[in-house]
Amino acid sequence: MNVPFFNYGFVYGQYADEFKKILLDVSKRGSFIMQDELKFFEKNLSNYLESKFALGVGNCTDGLLLSIKAAGIKPGDEVIFSSHTFVATASAIYHAGAIPVPVECGPDHLISVQSIRENITSKTRAIIPTQLNGHVCDMDEIIKLCNENNLILIEDAAQSIGAKYKGKFAGNFGIASSFSFYPAKVIGCFGDGGAVITNDENIYEKIFLTRDHGREKIGNVVTWGMNSRLDSINAAILDFKLKMYDRDVKRRRQIASMYQKGLVDVNELVLPRHPDYDSNKFEIYQNYELEVANSKDRTSLINYLKSQGIGTILQWGGKAVHQFEGLGFKISLPFTEDIMNRSFLIPMNTSLDDNDISYVIDKIRNFFGYGS
Ligand SMILES: Cc1ncc(COP(=O)(O)O)c(C=O)c1O
Repeated sequence: MNVPFFNYGFVYGQYADEFKKILLDVSKRGSFIMQDELKFFEKNLSNYLESKFALGVGNCTDGLLLSIKAAGIKPGDEVIFSSHTFVATASAIYHAGAIPVPVECGPDHLISVQSIRENITSKTRAIIPTQLNGHVCDMDEIIKLCNENNLILIEDAAQSIGAKYKGKFAGNFGIASSFSFYPAKVIGCFGDGGAVITNDENIYEKIFLTRDHGREKIGNVVTWGMNSRLDSINAAILDFKLKMYDRDVKRRRQIASMYQKGLVDVNELVLPRHPDYDSNKFEIYQNYELEVANSKDRTSLINYLKSQGIGTILQWGGKAVHQFEGLGFKISLPFTEDIMNRSFLIPMNTSLDDNDISYVIDKIRNFFGYGS
């Protein structure tokens, strides 16, 4: 049996006819850039996420950069983020001229509120929590810290479209947030793509201009901008996928429940929280990131799963942002480093059927000497 980590052929092949129709339709009209498809998708996305505005952008990293700049974060300002994130969170801060300040994650792999508090200085201007793996941070506590210290909140919601905290969709908690439609994401497009959502008209107006060369609606350049537009083919494909997204989320949560049920008694593992663990959180399981209790087990478990045809991934190649020497951080974050030594991702996507999940569970149990 073979359970690849991600099955592009299935995910993109299952709607091949619809995708071909979209491609042909947009191409025939030459309607590639900044056309109705984008407007429709933005409208449907903002309706879905219950935000006032949505803006398609080239990718989530650009969306973060555009949001940071629109929020008025300036060179020299410090911006706190969790080091257990993709480097994009930090690079967006860096390219805005601000200073990225990595902090620890907590046991749930999300930014540690305690570590944020310890790293606030007179220069801190903003916090960018990552809603990692489809989970949501404790937003009440983060918002409280922002209010107490007069800090701007921007969410890196790349991995958490549709997740909710206390009934509110991830992405709606701060001044703006950014989502990724990278192909392996819960809603992926044909290449790079992203979106910013905001409930602030001023931020919307700014990003509307800056994502498209600083041009206003009639085409006049009114400010410095960049080229970061979501093209029409991807917008139309994403619009199509958005309609089926609730079904996909349901399936992802089902898979998470199956993993939980099948692995909960394996003492050598630490599992992510169960979908029903906290009624304040509705989480969408972009990834299923689990830990081995003892870091020595990780490589042999991964190799064993590989020999059984099961794909796994070390998130970010197994390093938190501050651990990449080329970025010049000279700090240690022991809790995060320990998590990075022990965690890995097992298959989590809608191409998996129940047999695939049972197979993964059986093989993991087998490795640790537990019965089926
Ligand atoms: C947490 C996080 N932030 C940012 C990004 C960047 O997204 P994009 O590739 O769309 O720029 C990703 C993508 O993998 C991500 O997982």
